Amino acid sequence: MILPTGTPRLDRYLSEGYETVRGMSSAFAASISGHILRRQAELGIKGHIAEIGTFEGRFFIALAMGLQPGEHAIGIDIFSWPSEKVLDHLHANCAKHGVPQPDYTAIKGNTADMTPADVIAPALRVPGSVGGKVRFFHIDGQHDDENITNDLNLAAPLMHESGIIVLDDMLHPAYPELVESVHRWLRQHPEWRVLAIIDREDIVAAAKYVLCRVEAVALYEKDLLAAFAPQVFPMGCDLIGHFTMVLTPNPRLAEID
Ligand SMILES: C[S@@+](CC[C@H](N)C(=O)[O-])C[C@H]1O[C@@H](n2cnc3c(N)ncnc32)[C@H](O)[C@@H]1O
Repeated sequence: MILPTGTPRLDRYLSEGYETVRGMSSAFAASISGHILRRQAELGIKGHIAEIGTFEGRFFIALAMGLQPGEHAIGIDIFSWPSEKVLDHLHANCAKHGVPQPDYTAIKGNTADMTPADVIAPALRVPGSVGGKVRFFHIDGQHDDENITNDLNLAAPLMHESGIIVLDDMLHPAYPELVESVHRWLRQHPEWRVLAIIDREDIVAAAKYVLCRVEAVALYEKDLLAAFAPQVFPMGCDLIGHFTMVLTPNPRLAEID
């Protein structure tokens, strides 16, 4: 499901280009992320965009279309699965869909070997850089306890105080233990909250968690509930003691006679 983001070139990419780029994230999640990026810009939240698990750029290109002057997109991947051609495909896809080289850097490597300083370094070299903070971080790397914990710890120190972290493949039947790691991390970091759950489109285009700091909830919550009202699951959910909205392509309750 594709929804309007308020950024015309992103809307075009979602309807004409997104499915042509090999990848796994849903257009529904990309639409909501595009809306959040535009809202951040309108609120004056300045920072870079980063992604772990960039693969061939499907979701990365959508995020990069939200860049503002002085901001940079950082894509991190080992870029060797399923072949060494992945990085070439990423560059070709970015060029084809209008994300030019000066706007982004691909970092080839394993996040287990990186520090926050390694991640942000390319963004600091951008002429007129907005600084050393990330306003939107998509984590979609290796789905196991060690790596998701490492990736959250890599991202968190870099985040703008009103920044958003999106986690892929939450509640996925193939990774049932992944939420356990995330919930443990959230209990250890009570300053972070699950603002929203973006439901799956299918088994490949799976659910995502949208995280922000507790103080930033008010910046996003009402706006998302209003902007995506037809997609709001009426019950929402309770997650670690607080309300979390659930956005789904087809909100409905079980029919009970
Ligand atoms: C599911 S794919 C990402 C899909 C992409 N984000 C999309 O939405 O289409 C996961 C990617 O994470 C990368 N990856 C896995 N473990 C990693 C690690 N430790 N460091 C960097 N990248 C990693 C893999 O190489 C793979 O390209």
